[in-house]
Parts: sequence; structure tokens; C-alpha cells
Amino acid sequence: NRIALYPGSFDPPTRGHTDLARRSLVLADKVIVAVARTSTTEPLFTVEDRLAMLQAAIGDDPRIHYQSFEGLLVEFARRSGATLIVRGLRAVSDFEYEFQMAMMNRHLLPRLETVFLVPPEDATYLSSSLVREIARHGGDVSEFVHPVVADALHRRFSG
Ligand code: PNS
Repeated sequence: NRIALYPGSFDPPTRGHTDLARRSLVLADKVIVAVARTSTTEPLFTVEDRLAMLQAAIGDDPRIHYQSFEGLLVEFARRSGATLIVRGLRAVSDFEYEFQMAMMNRHLLPRLETVFLVPPEDATYLSSSLVREIARHGGDVSEFVHPVVADALHRRFSG
């Protein structure tokens, strides 16, 4: 069975993320959506909140699993038996960081390949940080995120 990891911060998950998680099923029998516990910036939502939002937004599919991980992604891949990492590539600006990370991850665990999927056309400009920014200033994010995520953002910023 081919296992793929779809790792990220998902703070919060966007429509781009949910699309990619579902799309990655063409590459693997099981996809683990993996929320990183370690982050360089202070997250808006807890890891548990993000996992619940991902599950609500992506929906129930027995082939998609939801987990968090601490430390190196390659170690989580080793523990979970994953042979693929799936990442989204939106624009040229993503490329440098993604390329560097893919090369380093493969160096650390040679049997691990990174594959890139492109998001839907209308989500190429979408990012969690922009969604957070719009929501923080009271803007409407309903077309960018699942209603569960829009509600969570509204509750977070309306108080
Ligand atoms: O959604 P993001 O923030 O772009 O995701 C980045 C993430 C979480 C995939 C990346 O930072 C990561 O893998 N973190 C775990 C630590 C690690 O293994 N870093 C990469 C070393 S090459």
C-alpha cells in the first residue's frame, strides 16, 4: 500500500488545501494529512482545532487520515511508512522554498519522494496567511474556506 503524507501548518485550512488533499488520492492508497506541531510563528489555531477543521472541510473518506507530528517530517514519514510527500505549488514564489525542502528531505531519507500538485486555478492566490489577514480585519472569507473554518475565524476575531 502506498502511503502519502500531505504535511503543513494549515493555520487555517483553505479550499486549496482541501482540494489538494482529495486530489492526492490519485497518487496513494492512503493519505495522511499531517499537521506540524512545531512552528516558527505563533499559530492562530491549536493543532487539535486545525485537525478538526481539516476533517470537517475534507470530509469522511476512509483513505484520508488526520494526524499531527512533532519534529522532523522525515522521521514522521519513517514511522508512518510513507514513501511520498505531497505539497502544493501555487506560483514561482513557492518554488525556491519547496525545492530546498524537497531536496533536504530526500537527502535525509532517500526513499522519500516529494511530488507537487497545483491547486485549482481560482485558488492560486490563496494562502492561510492572507485568509487570516482578511478575517482579522473583518473581511468575508467564505469563498476561500469551508464554513466551519469561516465560523472559527469569525469567533476568533469578533470578540
Ligand atoms: O504549510 P507550511 O507551513 O508551508 O508547512 C511547512 C512544513 C510543516 C511542511 C515544514 O515546515 C515541515 O516539514 N516542518 C517539520 C520540520 C521539518 O522536517 N522541516 C523541514 C526540514 S527540510
